Amino acid sequence: MANVAVIGSQWGDEGKGKIVDVLSSEAEVVVRFQGGHNAGHTLVIDGVTYKLHLLPSGIVRPGKLSVIGNGVVVDPHALLKEINTVKEQGLDINPDNLVLAENASLILSVHSIMDQAMEAARGKGKIGTTGRGIGLAYEDKVARRGIRVCDLESNDVLKEKLEKMLDHHNLLLKGWGADEVKVETLYDELMSVSDQILSYSGVAWKRLDEVHKAGKKILFEGAQGHFLDVDHGTYPFVTSSNTVAGAAAAGAGVGPSMVDYVLGITKAYTTRVGSGPFPTEQENDVGEQLGTRGHEFGTTTGRKRRCGWFDATLVRQAVKTGGISGIALTKLDVLDGFDELKICVAYEIDGERYDYLPSSMIKQANAKPIYETMPGWQETTYGARSYGDLPAAAVKYVKHIEELIEAPVALLSTSPERDDTILMQDLFLD
Ligand code: GDP
Ligand code: IMO
Ligand code: MG
Repeated sequence: MANVAVIGSQWGDEGKGKIVDVLSSEAEVVVRFQGGHNAGHTLVIDGVTYKLHLLPSGIVRPGKLSVIGNGVVVDPHALLKEINTVKEQGLDINPDNLVLAENASLILSVHSIMDQAMEAARGKGKIGTTGRGIGLAYEDKVARRGIRVCDLESNDVLKEKLEKMLDHHNLLLKGWGADEVKVETLYDELMSVSDQILSYSGVAWKRLDEVHKAGKKILFEGAQGHFLDVDHGTYPFVTSSNTVAGAAAAGAGVGPSMVDYVLGITKAYTTRVGSGPFPTEQENDVGEQLGTRGHEFGTTTGRKRRCGWFDATLVRQAVKTGGISGIALTKLDVLDGFDELKICVAYEIDGERYDYLPSSMIKQANAKPIYETMPGWQETTYGARSYGDLPAAAVKYVKHIEELIEAPVALLSTSPERDDTILMQDLFLD
């Protein structure tokens, strides 16, 4: 198998966790390279469900190495809690099968406090963040005042860095009339988990280099989706990292030529959690039907996901700007039983036709979808494991999506279960 980067091509929750799990049978390592515990990746294996937020999805397979790369922002308390949860489900997690990059940045309690306070202050213009402190931790990283995993190795360094960081945050908190955060509070919080976190800390890039030299394969597991990317997404309604495959190398500590194949995980319709433009959103019976059949509730926050028709214009843009080699089309089964299906093929914005989503916030908000309508199918595709089992109308739908997005469908997914997956194109050839 090639080294594959698995990334979301819409607004997240496309089924990345399931597909990484499917592909991880052929890989030695699964590495997360951006985002944090804002992600929620669901795996269903023989009826058992695992919900992962920070742990790479390869963690469920014995003998595989899981790496949390330097590009991830890590809440140490959330990580330990997640490790405990999956241990209770019977998984074995130890420093031999989980490496946390020593240069990954940490999310501290002050980050989530400020994330939530800033969202409250935005009022109607809120982004709808997960409130996990993701954006604040990335801000501190880029401003060069962040705390990293390796800073836990020295109590003196840690105290000094916390003081500098809080000089900044307390100024803001004071300005808002909120309580200041004490250095001792953050220091004690970190000390309570420091030994456990350090036991997983390692030189991630070296481990990946060794694996690569040994000819073994690496899966890069993206979080969020293309249109939540801080550059390529529907800014400012985005997350605070680059979610495109281009971020995989920098966020894992490998060269860009290490990624051989970019697999864009793509839902057969569209969903979004949180605020922001969504041209094909269906605030009607269709949206309700998609949400109910697709169980569209957030894995991380439990929020109801907004639902709408497939937007080929959006996914084609992700294919081009994200370098997507092929897609995995997921949740095709959710479309069973519709009389007709709509696909957005372009937008009309202020009287003009656009074959892409422009960057302007105003234009994005005004984008009206131009649809093509296709016949639906009444047969069930749920659990289908062969292309030949799909009704003719479903095959036509898949083929038309390929044409519109200008990329092949490499995999098809027809249920949450690992094995209900159809391999269309052999990614496994080097
Ligand atoms: P991720 O964040 O991209 O990993 O996706 P999530 O796990 O947040 O959301 C995808 C949801 O769809 C999960 O509940 C999966 O179990 C489920 N799922 C994945 N693939 C399929 C599929 O082909 N059909 C159905 N019905 N559900 C799926
Ligand atoms: P996975 O990996 C869907 C959304 C939030 C919000 C915006 C910014 O499961 O696909 P943040 O907390 O990151 O600052 O929130 O991004 N968001 C996601 N939406 N799936 C995700 O992850 C998401 N991670 C963040 O809802 O709109
Ligand atoms: Mg998710």
